[in-house]
Amino acid sequence: MDKIRIIGGSPLNGIIRIGGAKNASLPLMAACLLTDEPVTFKNIPDLADITSMAILLEHLGVQIGQGIDSPENGGLQLPSMTLTASHVKTTIAPYDLVRRMRASVLVLGPLLARMGQAVVSMPGGCAIGTRPIDLHLKAMEALGAEITLEEGYVHARAPHGLKGASHTFPLVTVTGTENLLMCACLADGETTLRNAAREPEVIDLANCLVSMGAQISGIGTDTLVIQGVSRLHGATHTVVADRIETGTYAIGALMTGGQVDLIGTDPSLLPTFVPLLEEMGAIITPTAHGFHVDGRNKPQHGVDIMTEPFPGFPTDLQAQIMTLMSVAQGASMITETIFENRFMHVPELQRLGASINVHGASAMIRGKPQLIGAPVMATDLRASVSLVLAGMAAQGETIVSRVYHLDRGYEHVEDKLAACGINIERIRGRDHDTEDHCAA
Ligand code: EPZ
Repeated sequence: MDKIRIIGGSPLNGIIRIGGAKNASLPLMAACLLTDEPVTFKNIPDLADITSMAILLEHLGVQIGQGIDSPENGGLQLPSMTLTASHVKTTIAPYDLVRRMRASVLVLGPLLARMGQAVVSMPGGCAIGTRPIDLHLKAMEALGAEITLEEGYVHARAPHGLKGASHTFPLVTVTGTENLLMCACLADGETTLRNAAREPEVIDLANCLVSMGAQISGIGTDTLVIQGVSRLHGATHTVVADRIETGTYAIGALMTGGQVDLIGTDPSLLPTFVPLLEEMGAIITPTAHGFHVDGRNKPQHGVDIMTEPFPGFPTDLQAQIMTLMSVAQGASMITETIFENRFMHVPELQRLGASINVHGASAMIRGKPQLIGAPVMATDLRASVSLVLAGMAAQGETIVSRVYHLDRGYEHVEDKLAACGINIERIRGRDHDTEDHCAA
């Protein structure tokens, strides 16, 4: 397995192009199952999870072509992917594919909507929590699906098609909202989804579905109203920027006292995070293609945060902001309200000298002037990048192992950081230990 070696102490200075959002790309790719016509996505990121989804979709019979989109206006060249589900050869998503990435559950909704049936392996839990999908299934039953669980597989049937209905999610679920959006597009009649997720990735999926002929109103709110249609057609869609990658590199600038121009993104994707980073000392200036972060003040003082569904503070930036807090002046408090086990980066940060105390769902962080480099181990996607950030600010050498977690959600991370002055390199591993699967 590969490792990443960082020698800390250099400021993050330069330009970083932010890729398309992993958590938008995954549902968008699944949405191709809703039509027999080609769907082309621009700005698809080059990530392990995207490859996993492509493998699963090809297993189902989707034809996939990749390319580079060279816009006439001489703009940024964007990686593109065209998916065509003209012939779905199976409606079974097997365990050995689903276990690699739990977001594979996103094929359940479109398969059920288009084919009237689906057999999808239960994704299983993962490092950050049990990650059930009961809310997805209950909502599908509200639209008339017959759901049974047999030998670790979800068997979903709607032999006479799905029927529009009104459904309120008991709690906000991002992929649950996305699965049901895709179901409702082809259901007979009107569906109302209340307490729906409002994440930018959900908005991006809804906008793409509309471009495919779906009739959706309330996009961006917690109440989505979908008028079912008989079929959807092909479309071309540009994937929204990855707000978590954006926030991660913005934190890197403040942690190391540097300045970065983040391009291909938008501060409005992080309505709670950006003001909080400014409160900690960053100077944020919107630009034509994203925003500039001046982190030369370094983090002035701690802050208290609670992770919440959008537009609240994103749980996917919790590990990263904790790392920043560990070198801020003063104390901070984090309360993780989304997942039950998302503090696994804490013992690794403590190995680097961070002062953190966890009490149930809350962590108290007492900032220290300096972290000290050490060997650490990544445990999940967002924890892994928080260790890289810590290594950038630490004194001396930090070696991060199990970086396959990192490759799931951060495109060419060492290249982007090295190009901005960070002393970082990937050490290629010889063996391929059994990788534990989760993320997404
Ligand atoms: C999505 O996961 C993201 N993944 C996660 O990103 C993100 O952390 C999460 O939303 C929260 O924002 C993708 O979009 C592919 P949820 P998802 O359903 O949809 C409980 C990353 O690092 N719940 O919104 O699986 C659940 O246990 C990943 O990129 C149920 O109880 O999250 C959690 O406590 C990690 N039953 C809460 O709801 C259900 O049926 C929110 O989960 C569904 C969810």
